[in-house]
Amino acid sequence: MRIAIIGGSGVYDPGMLEMREQRVETPYGEVKLKIGLYQAEEIVFLNRHGEKHSLPPHKVNYRANIWALKVLGIERVIATAAVGSTNPDFQPGEFVIVHDFLDFTKTRLYTFFEGGEMGVVHTDFTQPYCPELRRILLETARELGIKAHDGGIYACTEGPRFETPAEIRMIRQLGGDVVGMTAVPEVILAHEAGLCYSTIAMVTNMAAGISATPLTHDEVLEVMAQNSRNLRNLIFQAIPR
Ligand code: HPA
Repeated sequence: MRIAIIGGSGVYDPGMLEMREQRVETPYGEVKLKIGLYQAEEIVFLNRHGEKHSLPPHKVNYRANIWALKVLGIERVIATAAVGSTNPDFQPGEFVIVHDFLDFTKTRLYTFFEGGEMGVVHTDFTQPYCPELRRILLETARELGIKAHDGGIYACTEGPRFETPAEIRMIRQLGGDVVGMTAVPEVILAHEAGLCYSTIAMVTNMAAGISATPLTHDEVLEVMAQNSRNLRNLIFQAIPR
């Protein structure tokens, strides 16, 4: 089983042995990623936002990233995502192993299937996130005593601004539990590519209008940093399963 980690905001150093950089050519551009050793297994690590968080969510080359993982023979992908919460049951510092998504993005490239050589393909999305990997992550979290919610709907907004209170009320009414800016189209492309892909969403803040204070990226990074040990343990304990 070849495994990759896609690190989101605040996850830049996976802490593996003998990390080396690798460049992968794809039809969508070049991807720079890292390959390291964990328990004698090669694990691929990809920074979604590039080095030093240089790419905003709408500029991430999602197609190149997922294509590169396919080229490397990856089968399973554990992605991380910082999210705001619209659900009072999901509090900052807690993990959510999301099971579905709502798409409020506007400007992205959503598919590998643009006609031509790749054809026109309508992919089933009844289970957008890999049920097997979700189960493994939930079991691992339970064994480690880490609070991880079983399921949640990830509402993806365009960003890079945070949402307005009215947008958050709308998302809540439509069933969204957490809100972030990167699930779409990453989960779509991973699913189209036949990867077993699951996201560990980390709640960093209550969403706009629910939180008592204005949102800042520093707050997001601070909560990620406070919980990075748990996140790392969860990922690496889940990998061998
Ligand atoms: N909204 C969108 N993206 C986010 C948030 C949020 O409140 N927190 C962390 N990423």
